[in-house]
Amino acid sequence: MLKSHSCGELRDEHIGDVVTLAGWVDRRRDHGGLIFIDLRDREGIVQVAFDPEKSASSHEVAGDLRNEYVVKIIGEVVRRPSGTENSRLPTGQIEITAREVSILNPSKTPPFYINEETDVDESLRLKYRYLDLRRPRMKANILFRHKTVKFIRDFLDAAGFIEVETPILIKSTPEGARDYLVPSRIHPGEFYALPQSPQQLKQLLMVAGLEKYYQIARCFRDEDTRADRQPEFTQLDLEMSFIDEEDILVLFEELFTSLVETLKPGTRVKRPFPRIGYADAMDRYGSDKPDLRFGMEIKDLSDIVAQSDFSIFRNTVADSGRVKGICAPGCAHYSRRQLDELNRLAQDFGAGGLVTIALGDSTGKLDDLTMAMVKSTAAKYLTIDEIKRMASSLQAGLGDLLLIVAAAPDLVNTVLGRLRQELGNRLGLADPDALSFAYIVGFPLLRKDNASGQWTSEHHPFTAPWPEDIPLLDTAPAKVRGRHYDMVCNGYEIGGGSLRIYTSELQKKVFRLLGYTDEEITERFGHMLEAFEFGAPPHGGIALGIDRIVMLMVGAETIREVIAFPKNQAAMDLTMNAPSPVTEEQLSDLHISLREE
Ligand code: AMO
Repeated sequence: MLKSHSCGELRDEHIGDVVTLAGWVDRRRDHGGLIFIDLRDREGIVQVAFDPEKSASSHEVAGDLRNEYVVKIIGEVVRRPSGTENSRLPTGQIEITAREVSILNPSKTPPFYINEETDVDESLRLKYRYLDLRRPRMKANILFRHKTVKFIRDFLDAAGFIEVETPILIKSTPEGARDYLVPSRIHPGEFYALPQSPQQLKQLLMVAGLEKYYQIARCFRDEDTRADRQPEFTQLDLEMSFIDEEDILVLFEELFTSLVETLKPGTRVKRPFPRIGYADAMDRYGSDKPDLRFGMEIKDLSDIVAQSDFSIFRNTVADSGRVKGICAPGCAHYSRRQLDELNRLAQDFGAGGLVTIALGDSTGKLDDLTMAMVKSTAAKYLTIDEIKRMASSLQAGLGDLLLIVAAAPDLVNTVLGRLRQELGNRLGLADPDALSFAYIVGFPLLRKDNASGQWTSEHHPFTAPWPEDIPLLDTAPAKVRGRHYDMVCNGYEIGGGSLRIYTSELQKKVFRLLGYTDEEITERFGHMLEAFEFGAPPHGGIALGIDRIVMLMVGAETIREVIAFPKNQAAMDLTMNAPSPVTEEQLSDLHISLREE
């Protein structure tokens, strides 16, 4: 090693030692006679003093140092002169008196400050990601990610799981996204697919008798990028044999509470993780990944307004729609402009409109509410009794704002669910120091695609139906429940899994329901069906988005903040500039000719 110590580790007990350090110049201050630099390496920062009286040659070199120069320094650890200690630095009690310094490599002026968390355009950060990663926050995120993955590995190892790597060049495995394809040079016109997940392979590992498998697995999905979505992301993928749902749910509750306790002590985590039925989650929170850090539950007001003079409400209920609402606490004072904006949001989310009812601008008891205190565009059609009953159902008081949507049942839920999340964020209702985990269970196995009329899997085609629902596959597929569970946290879906089908017969039946012909089933999934005929054990598993859980634990806004080299929103790698054209020769090797678009 070129260094004897890391910059960040030096303390009082090193005083008097002569150390050799190597790192980057974080900043330089020239005080005329004395020159100081903050020397930075991965472990932290230490101050180095260049005194011409102590070493004239070092002082001269220090005059040439600039930010981000890479230097090696030999010097003595000394106590800082009284009054110059820096309590914000762990090394702030000491400094290094330089005896020798050498410049290992100079640096151009970086395109943004490394030593300050200034706002920098994300494209620039991604282009110079290696510099961005030098900045304290990003460095901390990447270190935190390392610790998270290490904790998971240690925990699962202790619990008897073994890590197995599965291939990246495979055959397409459906997870609901488009595949990334890799053309084969050796087999003209044929393609590998990059795994959307190791789903089929981990099931085959169960047939292989490995019983308890996990993998920190890279997955690839060609879908639109979002704050919580990357074309290439990492899962904790896990599978077990001879289990039921409880085994997975209890294991993951234990894993994630101990992870948070160890790496983020002080974070509020409620145990046991609530289990919420899918339909219940949609009804109460308008989302299958509800943010449970705050209440603001959606309430059904249809019965209250079924006979109302307000025809929009009355007719919606008569036409099998629902009238539902949420209460925004303390928002009765919202201005016309704020209400218009909420209305526009509701329309963007798909509603025809939004009815708002402001319950007076003071606080007090609901009983005291009079029509004169109510502000609402629908006020003249609603009675004070209807308004009070709606308010009471929503547990609202004076000073609150009711937001009410009338539409088809599913639409009402999703619009109010999104308004709930938006208002929860704006009003700061969500405790930033809480991680609110929950399991969502009781999903339907299948969903009808509205456009094609075709059944699709709610999760993926390997999910087992509830045994008692199997006969319904022939008669009422919509009613079949899947043995699927999602893990959610703070409004994000962080994981999902299921017990699997493990007989060829049942698997074939599900594929047929999904519209595959027998030829397609054999061609695409013959290997799975055959494997199930060689003593496949009952099994199940789960996969958890590592990027998402790390994002939530470090409090980042996007998963790009916790990935060393992420793609940008247009799915481009700006550091290496990919995707990019390839040579004619490479294309020819792959038997590919490009079409003019
Ligand atoms: P699923 O498709 O639900 O399940 O994915 C599991 C978890 O992976 C994360 N995730 C993503 N993270 C970032 N970018 C993406 N594009 C992305 N897509 C998914 C989410 C999600 O909850 N094979 C099944 C698991 C199983 O059944 O065992 C699967 O992949 O956090």
